[in-house]
Amino acid sequence: MLFRKQKTPADRPVPTHIAIVMDGNGRWARKRGMPRQAGHKVGAEAFRTIANYAKAIGLKYLTVYTFSTENWKRSEEEVNAIMDLLEKYLREILRDMDKNQVRFCFFGDMSRLSPQLQEEARLAAGESKKYSGVQVNFCLNYGGRAEIVRAAQKFARDCVEGKCRPEELTQERFSDLMYSAGVPDPELVIRPGGELRTSNFLLWQSAYAEYYFTDVLWPDFGPKDLEKAIAAYNGRNRRFGGAK
Ligand code: FPP
Repeated sequence: MLFRKQKTPADRPVPTHIAIVMDGNGRWARKRGMPRQAGHKVGAEAFRTIANYAKAIGLKYLTVYTFSTENWKRSEEEVNAIMDLLEKYLREILRDMDKNQVRFCFFGDMSRLSPQLQEEARLAAGESKKYSGVQVNFCLNYGGRAEIVRAAQKFARDCVEGKCRPEELTQERFSDLMYSAGVPDPELVIRPGGELRTSNFLLWQSAYAEYYFTDVLWPDFGPKDLEKAIAAYNGRNRRFGGAK
């Protein structure tokens, strides 16, 4: 992953945290008579470009939905192709770490992934902790409801062990039990691919996020589309439940 220096358009604020559902890879491939895996491959390149751009414009957190708890239902061939892409990507992350200076984090139940992927993810997260620029969060075998249940179980366990009492649970404390502990909530969630749903993505964290939907399929999604989403976000009137 090569990060070129890019001019930062100084005329607009950039959110601190943007989250993206990278949707539409399969349709992108089908439209071209290619296997779905080909769409994921180009989708991985689209991610690379967006991560580069995010770093250039000073975004602090970029969270991407890479593989959901429901994606195991896909054919073995497709699941393996996505896992292969991830392994390749993680090897590159480890190789180019010092050059790219990106912090990596993984949200999700990694235990179902291959031991090699788990080890590479552990290394990538551990070794990139020292960088202070952009943080990329990969949601891998991730589901929003599963994340909330996991947090509730952790808190309940601590209560049973006498470490805390149920009344002590606050929203802030619950946030700290999520995979995203310490990461500010996303201000903007982008979903390319034309579907108008959240698909179990960051359910807890996106309570007050602004959503941006576009028909552009993820492999075609580029910096111009990200700028359009940021412009739309900047035009929104965020009230957090307050008066108009
Ligand atoms: C959704 O499109 C996409 C996925 C389930 C996989 C996302 C994975 C990648 C972009 C590749 C790996 C990424 C990296 C960063 C190495 P879809 O298949 O549901 O598309 P469709 O709705 O058109 O079928």
